[in-house]
Amino acid sequence: MAFDIEMIKAVYDRMPARIAAARALTGKPLTLTEKILYSHLWEGTPSTTFTRGGSYVDFAPDRVAMQDATAQMALLQFMQAGRPQVAVPSTVHCDHLIEAKVASTTDLKVAVDKNKEVYDFLSSVSDKYGIGFWKPGAGIIHQVVLENYAFPGGMMIGTDSHTVNAGGLGMIAIGVGGADACDVMAGLAWELKFPKLIGVKLTGKLNGWTSAKDVILKVAGILTVKGGTGCVVEYFGEGATSMSCTGKGTICNMGAEIGATTSTFGYDDSMARYLESTGRADVAALANGIREHLTADSEVYANPEAYFDQVIEIDLDALEPHVNGPFTPDLATPISKLKELAIKNNWPTKVEVGLIGSCTNSSYEDIARAASLAKQVAAKGLKTKAQFTITPGSEQVRYTIERDGFISTFDSIGATVFSNACGPCIGQWARPGAEKGEKNTIVHSFNRNFAKRADGNPNTYAFVASPEIVTALAIAGDLTFNPLTDTLTNEKGEQVKLEAPTGDELPKLGFAVEDAGYQAPAEDGSGVQVKVASTSDRLQLLAPFSAWEGTDLKGLKLLIKAKGKCTTDHISMAGPWLKYRGHLDNISNNMLIGAVNFFNEKTDNVKNQLSGVYGAVPDTQRAYKAAGIGTIVVGDTNYGEGSSREHAAMEPRHLGVRAVLVKSFARIHETNLKKQGMLALTFANDADYDKIQEDDSINILGLNDFAPEKSLTIELTHADGSTDSFPVNHTYNAQQIEWFKAGGALNIIRASIK
Ligand code: F3S
Repeated sequence: MAFDIEMIKAVYDRMPARIAAARALTGKPLTLTEKILYSHLWEGTPSTTFTRGGSYVDFAPDRVAMQDATAQMALLQFMQAGRPQVAVPSTVHCDHLIEAKVASTTDLKVAVDKNKEVYDFLSSVSDKYGIGFWKPGAGIIHQVVLENYAFPGGMMIGTDSHTVNAGGLGMIAIGVGGADACDVMAGLAWELKFPKLIGVKLTGKLNGWTSAKDVILKVAGILTVKGGTGCVVEYFGEGATSMSCTGKGTICNMGAEIGATTSTFGYDDSMARYLESTGRADVAALANGIREHLTADSEVYANPEAYFDQVIEIDLDALEPHVNGPFTPDLATPISKLKELAIKNNWPTKVEVGLIGSCTNSSYEDIARAASLAKQVAAKGLKTKAQFTITPGSEQVRYTIERDGFISTFDSIGATVFSNACGPCIGQWARPGAEKGEKNTIVHSFNRNFAKRADGNPNTYAFVASPEIVTALAIAGDLTFNPLTDTLTNEKGEQVKLEAPTGDELPKLGFAVEDAGYQAPAEDGSGVQVKVASTSDRLQLLAPFSAWEGTDLKGLKLLIKAKGKCTTDHISMAGPWLKYRGHLDNISNNMLIGAVNFFNEKTDNVKNQLSGVYGAVPDTQRAYKAAGIGTIVVGDTNYGEGSSREHAAMEPRHLGVRAVLVKSFARIHETNLKKQGMLALTFANDADYDKIQEDDSINILGLNDFAPEKSLTIELTHADGSTDSFPVNHTYNAQQIEWFKAGGALNIIRASIK
């Protein structure tokens, strides 16, 4: 059904020659990461080498995956490209909008009803443009991708930061914003800074209570939440080959928590077993045929210091289970030290809820091992002290673990099974009493544990651990319990010890499912109508932005001179605004409401030069737009840092801002502005920022000769009639100047198709 064997075959057919060319050019043995990157260049066979951490490189990913929250704007933009079909295999997954409240079936019904218009839109747009659609209840994007689409040596992008999970099957899989997904689906190149490489050598073998999760919890402790920035982490060694494919997925998944671009593992037998078990023996056979290209050259792993920018070694024989947190995933504590630290730091030691599952940890192996502990509860006369919940990663996993008796084992300890969806991992958890804000502890097997992420309560201390450790701590109801050494008192007053968890890597009877929840697109989607109600407040079809008028921009007003930090969150806030991710006009009501006005130090309070009245930024901008007057936004350094959220560029464009002039840009935001047809300019001299006054009228001159590396000129007319003039720089190349002239990159793509 789901994967595209011809596409995989084509990738494998071209890999050997491209890898050989890259090896010849670089004059050295190659890591797996380099092999995959060099065989996915937009230009085809490599003709030049790239500097790690320096060169910006155009790539041609094999696949795109989108989750429901981010897919909306990605697909609304894609519709603007005018393509009849997506250019690469793509899928949509309905997982983020389902709230966990009562239990799976009830919660799913509520979500389907509440989000009907969003699901109808995503389903119809997928049908029309050849995109695979995974319905609500089908599962979490990354688990479904691992089960159906990931393949060794492939390259994919996904509109979610944990897209990196597919590294468990030997991919280079990277999380991106919706605009990037739109570009790749429209047949354009995708740009990435060539990463630095961190090698993690795993010696020994996982044993006893230790699981793959503990590897990444340990790595997070070593590298911290920033340590992987700009890097791909490549795992290797006997410890890597001896662990399961899904365990590798868990490790790669949480690479997002160390800021890594992605993580990956070389192809091995565990991947072949997983591919075969999930109905992809043909992919395994193809991969076996080019095995040596799907892992690093042997010299690399023999002498890693010579080929990686940084090398970390972890001995799995000695690795202890870890519990990371609270409030940050890099605060890593080995289980033997947890009691001491919990008491010292006054962390609440009573465990209220243990939550297992999520995209990070809901493999068959994870669930089987957790169930082996749950089974001991009755056998040893214990009673589970904390609440216990499970969010299966996919319907296929849920169906199989039910068939194999694990769900009834969890039932026997009073567990709640939530829908196959993100639920508590993304704050979609209607946890009773959370609104009281009481200090309490939960332990989960997810990946992130920032304040408020699970239940919205800032006083919930969330700890991340393996499903096995979560289950043991939930049984004990006590954060200070070390299942490796401690005993529990059973109902008869006896001291009993939990045996170390056990479980099969893959189901002996194979995976099974009745309805996986997949909807294939129409063979010919040309007649399919995309469903968006004109009355919807959550969805709005986009209209093309208008082209440049062909003249200099004169008589612009200053909308805001932002002071200090102005991230994409300041420009387009998240939280309650997430609801409007698919409605550009409605979400534009959050435009720049977090930015600090230089002139009064207030947020969301700027002067309307037409009326002299101070008001909210979006309202003021709408007033200028209604009067047909363009505006300019001025900012400080690293303007637009944070996420790759395209809304931060689309909102100003939609409301009539013509240019953003700053001391410096965060690169992705600068590119997003260019893609939307905006002028992204920087002060040639930072001191000119000080010349901008609140009542200025502004001209941007030189646009008729707009050319790469040629400055433009800003002319200010101040309220007292005095003027200032200074040069401003830009980084537009010839192609990007065409985007500006056409009113946006999508207008160019559309024009090229007609
Ligand atoms: Fe969903 Fe949490 Fe994974 S939000 S995609 S389960 S990280």
